[in-house]
Amino acid sequence: MTHAQGTSDAFFRHIVSGMRNGVLAITREGRLALINDEAYRIFGVAAKRDDVGRPIAVVLKDHPDVVRVLTGAFDLHLLPNRVEMRLKPSNKVIGYTVTFVPDDNGNVIGAAMFFKDLTRVEQLEERERLRDRLAAVGEMAAVIAHEVKNPLAGIEVMAGLLRRKIADTPDAAVLTDIIKEAKMANAIVQEVLDFVRPIRLQVEHTAVADAVQGAIQLADTKARRGEVEVSVAIPDGLPQIQADQHQLTQVFTNLLMNAYEAMGGSGHVSITANRLRAEDGSDQHEAVLVQVTDDGPGIPPDVAEKVFDPFFTTKPQGSGLGLAIVRKIVDAHDGRIDLRTSVGQGTTIRVTLPVSGSDDD
Ligand SMILES: Nc1ncnc2c1ncn2[C@@H]1O[C@H](COP(=O)(O)OP(=O)(O)OP(=O)(O)O)[C@@H](O)[C@H]1O
Ligand SMILES: [Mg+2]
Repeated sequence: MTHAQGTSDAFFRHIVSGMRNGVLAITREGRLALINDEAYRIFGVAAKRDDVGRPIAVVLKDHPDVVRVLTGAFDLHLLPNRVEMRLKPSNKVIGYTVTFVPDDNGNVIGAAMFFKDLTRVEQLEERERLRDRLAAVGEMAAVIAHEVKNPLAGIEVMAGLLRRKIADTPDAAVLTDIIKEAKMANAIVQEVLDFVRPIRLQVEHTAVADAVQGAIQLADTKARRGEVEVSVAIPDGLPQIQADQHQLTQVFTNLLMNAYEAMGGSGHVSITANRLRAEDGSDQHEAVLVQVTDDGPGIPPDVAEKVFDPFFTTKPQGSGLGLAIVRKIVDAHDGRIDLRTSVGQGTTIRVTLPVSGSDDD
């Protein structure tokens, strides 16, 4: 190594401490020789002043895999280079390289590990892969759904004919069940088709209040509301928005159905709408904020982050497409959707829709 004369030890220490990689080094005896802030951060270990000099197995007692890689390096001919490892406690993924530390005579006196937190990179890749997979699955689902629809309709019709023939016998009840099941299967197929189909909006001036009223009626035909009360507070002066009224109705229907299903027969759902003025005072970015709030059980954080994923469901009979469709429709309107929820406090879904769509005339 060459370096300018007069560069102090401190200079090199600062390079290491300021590095955006984690750096960790041990002596042959397995004692910590050096560790920087980024390493502490990635490992999620609190720095202690006397860490250096202590056995690595003690300092990183929560990371036995890392300890093994470092202490085992002295027995290896070929050192790990750009290898990935998942850290057990945090599930973080790191990419690391191990090198020997030689003294002036070339004798190995220590081992060093350089690593980077790859969790974000990995998540992005995973999302990319998921998107590709969904595109492929979506196409397949569309084909299958389409093919299944016709025979299903056939089953329903023929079971209906048969039921009429044997209307007064005990077996008629079985046919009623068959028809009910076929209808349910058909509804799922329809949901899959709705989800995988690219959205085409039929945009018109739409009153949010109309879509909400339509949804309240529609939800009653599709889910058990029980004693759940629904209140609507939408101010008269709310501007109409450029939207596909039919699809907007579906958005609120799906949200209401989820609320009913979550509350199990009693409680309160409130639907409010407000005008959001643009920060810059223009009416170009004016929007309407619709909030659907229930006082149901709420959603734990690890579930909440997945509820918009297609096919994610916690219900035995659910297809997990309700909120995925909602998000797709809101996206198509250039809107935004998010949720606020905590266990025991209920759930609020917030939908923001621009007053004039992107292709406004
Ligand atoms: N208001 C709510 N309260 C509590 N949990 C909710 C609420 N809305 C959604 N969820 C959770 O989000 C999950 C996904 O909802 P989504 O509507 O996408 O699918 P689903 O209701 O399970 O099935 P589908 O709507 O296709 O019949 C639900 O299974 C449920 O766990
Ligand atoms: Mg649902």
